[in-house]
Amino acid sequence: MLKVNIIGNLFLLFFLFNCAKCESSKLLSVATLYRHGSRGPMKFYKNDPYQKVADEIWPNGLSELTIIGKNQQFELGKWYRERYKSFIPDKYDRNFIRVLSSDSDRCLMSAASNLAGMFPPKGNQIWNKDIPWQPIPIHTTPMNQDALIYLGKPCPKHDKIVQELKNQEEYKQFVQYLQPTINYIEKHIKEKCNTIEELIFIHDALFVESFYGLELPRWTETFYPNYTMPLLALFFKLPAYTPQLARLNAGPLIDYITTFFEEVLEKPNNSQKFLMLSGHDNTIANLLTSLGLYDNTWPEYASSLNIEFKSRENQPFINMYFKNSTGIHKLTLNNCSFNCSFGRFKKLTEHLRINPDLWDKECTNV
Ligand SMILES: *[C@@H]1O[C@H](CO)[C@@H](O)[C@H](O)[C@H]1NC(C)=O
Ligand SMILES: *[C@@H]1O[C@H](CO)[C@@H](O)[C@H](O)[C@H]1NC(C)=O
Ligand SMILES: *[C@@H]1O[C@H](CO)[C@@H](O)[C@H](O)[C@H]1NC(C)=O
Ligand SMILES: *[C@@H]1O[C@H](CO)[C@@H](O)[C@H](O)[C@H]1NC(C)=O
Ligand SMILES: *[C@@H]1O[C@H](CO)[C@@H](O)[C@H](O)[C@H]1NC(C)=O
Repeated sequence: MLKVNIIGNLFLLFFLFNCAKCESSKLLSVATLYRHGSRGPMKFYKNDPYQKVADEIWPNGLSELTIIGKNQQFELGKWYRERYKSFIPDKYDRNFIRVLSSDSDRCLMSAASNLAGMFPPKGNQIWNKDIPWQPIPIHTTPMNQDALIYLGKPCPKHDKIVQELKNQEEYKQFVQYLQPTINYIEKHIKEKCNTIEELIFIHDALFVESFYGLELPRWTETFYPNYTMPLLALFFKLPAYTPQLARLNAGPLIDYITTFFEEVLEKPNNSQKFLMLSGHDNTIANLLTSLGLYDNTWPEYASSLNIEFKSRENQPFINMYFKNSTGIHKLTLNNCSFNCSFGRFKKLTEHLRINPDLWDKECTNV
């Protein structure tokens, strides 16, 4: 009996050892795209009762990162370090990480807060013993030239196709369907509010106010959040609604990330390994829509899309995760398994991928 057990255990050990070996994969690179942390409202509606207390609650101003937001990002940075603890070097190393941010203040400040959590100074990096922080470069591009993160660089072709979509009967019917809500809101706020964008500003103001514990006026209960939330999903999906739109919208970012991974393969000893992108809800939602992965939810503050580039037996593959307050969710590309081979990933996204020069050309070809 004892003998059988020993043999059985040996066999089990052998089996586990072998399987651990065959299953083990190596992390080659990570690209993360997160939404900035909590901010003040983008703007107030005309008779918003909380304008009076704005300076007290959001002292940095409208749409700026708050203390809660800084903490959310600091925690996210610590979480990155923890998740990739055998991958991220103990000390900040410029050859390891590249940080790109949208040029909006809240994203730049989010990147700084995040890096404070990820790379507290160690050893000879400590430059002031009272400050457990070190400066780390954050690269950015002016908004009107940013086709990667802020998505503010003009693309006439994209605008034209969106306008064509908006002229379609389906869209017009949708706006019609909103008309009673629009009338209702306009009656209460005593100003015009007849575009999807303006409705979203109201939704956002209400969301931020309730996030900061303020009681919403009773008249908003009939439409917030159930009625205006789907507008956000529409707003996020529209810019990447068709493959052609998706290419002009998230295509440059898909190209940037894919190129980053290719460089890791081509120059394993001479390439940065961690790409950190500090962006907006629409950066995430547009990219997910383009990849066919968007589930109509509003990306939360400091939620993070993590694209992990791994290899097993020299075969590179991609894993995608979306991290938010409810957990770490696996994302699986259509027509690919969760462990999606890099070759297949590239094939499936080939029609979206576009480099900056080609993007300029296609955008101006109206
Ligand atoms: C993906 O690969 C890992 C090993 O890298 C393995 O443990 C896991 O079971 C695989 N998952 C799927 C869904 O194939
Ligand atoms: C909003 O939606 C939730 C979930 O579907 C539902 O429980 C709630 O009653 C709705 N509220 C209003 C005011 O319609
Ligand atoms: C990278 O570095 C390792 C270890 O220093 C070395 O064995 C390998 O040949 C290098 N690879 C390339 C492509 O230079
Ligand atoms: C978190 O992300 C998952 C996956 O996208 C989504 O189903 C869930 O609703 C999100 N949670 C929140 C609170 O947004
Ligand atoms: C991918 O999946 C879709 C359905 O999700 C299917 O219509 C299409 O033919 C598939 N394409 C490939 C290349 O497998």
